[in-house]
Amino acid sequence: MAKIQTKYVCQSCGYNSPRWVGKCPNCNEWNTFVEEAPSPLRLSKKPMGAMSKIEPIPMDELESQDVPRVKTNIDEFDRVLGGGLVPGSLILLGGDPGIGKSTLMMQMALKLKGQVILYISGEESVRQIKLRAERLEADDTKSILLLAETNLDLILDVIERNPPDLIIVDSIQTMYRPGLESAPGSVSQVRESTALLLRLAKTQGIPIFVIGHVTKEGVIAGPRVIEHMVDTVLQFEGEAHYAYRILRALKNRYGSTNEIGIFEMHDSGLREVKNPSEAFLSERRYGTSGSTVVSSIEGSRPILIEVQALVTPTSYGMPQRNTTGFDYRRLSLLLAVLEKRVGLHLGSQDVFVNIAGGVKIDEPAVDLGIATSITSSLRDIPVDSSSVAVGEIGLGGEIRTVGHVEKRVQEAAKLGFKKVIIPHNNLKSVKGQNGIEIIGVHTVNEAMEQLIG
Ligand code: TYD
Ligand code: MG
Repeated sequence: MAKIQTKYVCQSCGYNSPRWVGKCPNCNEWNTFVEEAPSPLRLSKKPMGAMSKIEPIPMDELESQDVPRVKTNIDEFDRVLGGGLVPGSLILLGGDPGIGKSTLMMQMALKLKGQVILYISGEESVRQIKLRAERLEADDTKSILLLAETNLDLILDVIERNPPDLIIVDSIQTMYRPGLESAPGSVSQVRESTALLLRLAKTQGIPIFVIGHVTKEGVIAGPRVIEHMVDTVLQFEGEAHYAYRILRALKNRYGSTNEIGIFEMHDSGLREVKNPSEAFLSERRYGTSGSTVVSSIEGSRPILIEVQALVTPTSYGMPQRNTTGFDYRRLSLLLAVLEKRVGLHLGSQDVFVNIAGGVKIDEPAVDLGIATSITSSLRDIPVDSSSVAVGEIGLGGEIRTVGHVEKRVQEAAKLGFKKVIIPHNNLKSVKGQNGIEIIGVHTVNEAMEQLIG
């Protein structure tokens, strides 16, 4: 009998090795190798002639047509999908455990009236799912079919007998194909299961949602290897202690990837946040130092967010630098610029930076807001509360041009702010705005004069 050859597969990137190794030579992760039996799905060895039935199609013979879309009736969700669900698409929804992925899926299912939805769960019993649906104030649950099963071959059988209009798989890490030796959640199981679902979606034209868990580092564990197979990768994120949840498209074959959807978690499920700026500024305190309002672009929408800084003398040893929702290295850079160009002494100060509401921002246009908050906290002078700051800071302390200035200014005007500080070079791209004073600045120092005085 031939010896069964096993191989070791990196669970992070899918790299194969005949031997166990501690550190993956491909992605440099430690302790990620797991023994897996080879897949029994062998390539057929048909002669070339037997396969020649397929024909390529000249491109201009194909009629162009708009992709038909099914609205989920949740606007924030439709926007991220690029205008609705595309039949036959396979969508991966990733996110931390407990962030609300199952809730989002169930809410969507409840809104899709008149469609048969098959909700397959390998994580919860059908009773638990029903309990959740009841919390979500569902009136009509007739067309939702529940299946608590993890064996994909059995699941496929159910689907073939009664094809539904939409399938939700919660989660891909719990599904397995009995033909494969490795455990559910391993790279080969996840990959094979996805391949099966992909074929199902494409041949039957059924849209399929696949839920995937994310590791602490923020990568979609295991499912990272399937990101290239699916049509759309959605990420559901937020801080566990805050109610806000943001849905992002990381990849979308049927739409743009820079749209986001904003939700708020309540006792009765997720609610859409139609006016994010108002929501994010609702807890702002006036007259305290270390707080600046910035106008950030999320997707194609401007959102006003409060950035906070707290600067206090270091009590012992190394000064601390701490950020929530903002890049740590970017903070170090801004601190260096403030030391050198503005003359602040931060070497013996702890600096904490926080983006209010538990959101993450990673665009340079908020630099100015962060710098102003830090300066304001150090000097203990409040920033003008009727102003909004926009601008990227260069190493020379110059304020550099940013994109979409007009939208940012409009949003600030809409929410009743009196003044907006923008990069001087952006002045030409904003024409007369109603009721808001626009001030262009060249350097950080000029901006500080305007905002802190
Ligand atoms: P869930 O959708 O189960 O998360 P995931 O599938 O991403 O693991 O949501 C879990 C959390 O959401 C849980 O801590 C309870 C909370 N929650 C609410 O606050 N309100 C609700 O209506 C529901 C259904 C859940
Ligand atoms: Mg869940």
